[in-house]
Amino acid sequence: MWEYSKKVMDHFLHPRNVGEIENADAIGEIGNIACGDALRLYLKLKDGRIVDAKFKTFGCGSAIAAASALTEMVIGKTIEDASRITNQDIANYLDGLPEAKMHCSVMGMEALEAAIANYRGVKIKPTEEGTIICKCFGVTDNIIKRVILSNHLTTIEQVTHYTKAGGGCKSCHPEIQKILDEVWAKGELVTPKVKPPKKMTNIRKIQLIQETIDREIRPVLMLDGGDVELVDIEDNTVYVSFRGSCTECPSSKVTLKSTVESKLKEFVSEDLVVEEAGL
Ligand code: FES
Repeated sequence: MWEYSKKVMDHFLHPRNVGEIENADAIGEIGNIACGDALRLYLKLKDGRIVDAKFKTFGCGSAIAAASALTEMVIGKTIEDASRITNQDIANYLDGLPEAKMHCSVMGMEALEAAIANYRGVKIKPTEEGTIICKCFGVTDNIIKRVILSNHLTTIEQVTHYTKAGGGCKSCHPEIQKILDEVWAKGELVTPKVKPPKKMTNIRKIQLIQETIDREIRPVLMLDGGDVELVDIEDNTVYVSFRGSCTECPSSKVTLKSTVESKLKEFVSEDLVVEEAGL
């Protein structure tokens, strides 16, 4: 069961601007009825400004909500301003969409682009041409690359959520992975939307260290009659004390120390070093 925002539900249950515009100045059509989602967008313009927009769609509730939102977003805008609307803008307008439904926002953006191209008398945006990568859903390499870039996607699953590519027989997964690898390798995603991690407070750091020792380290040591105890923390140095069988062999203590350190680096912070207390 997807979690939908109130705005998505409102636009789904009471869609705005449903229908056709007679003598529309632009029509954009995207999708394929056979694949389950299709959208036709009609625009009426006056002096380069969109004065009316209507849509017809064959799709799920999110597709209806995204198309309805799109029509509200474009009415009153110039063609230039409308051309800057992204799928993320549509999702934001709806207070978000479940990731598995983001392809509905992409469909809205593509229908708008197709309508604008139609208005300008060009057949289709060059970025939408390209080689079909996913035969099940007719998705090209260019649209996959573009959606990866504009939404900072990193996995095949995300690409499927945003474009449907890869959601059928899966035979295109190696090709999708190749595109992901190429985009990331080229450093095109230089400004990921991921927020930098907040600086960890000391209390939180102590909690995480203790939790990691209790969860990841002590149960393993206790199997052989050993144990470890957190003694103190000074900045990034963690002082521990080994107990039981862990104290019997000096060389195994060196290994234990590096094992504890690597676990703390993995689960708490790369900056941590471990020392044995009292040495
Ligand atoms: S070719 Fe992409 S899912 Fe089948």
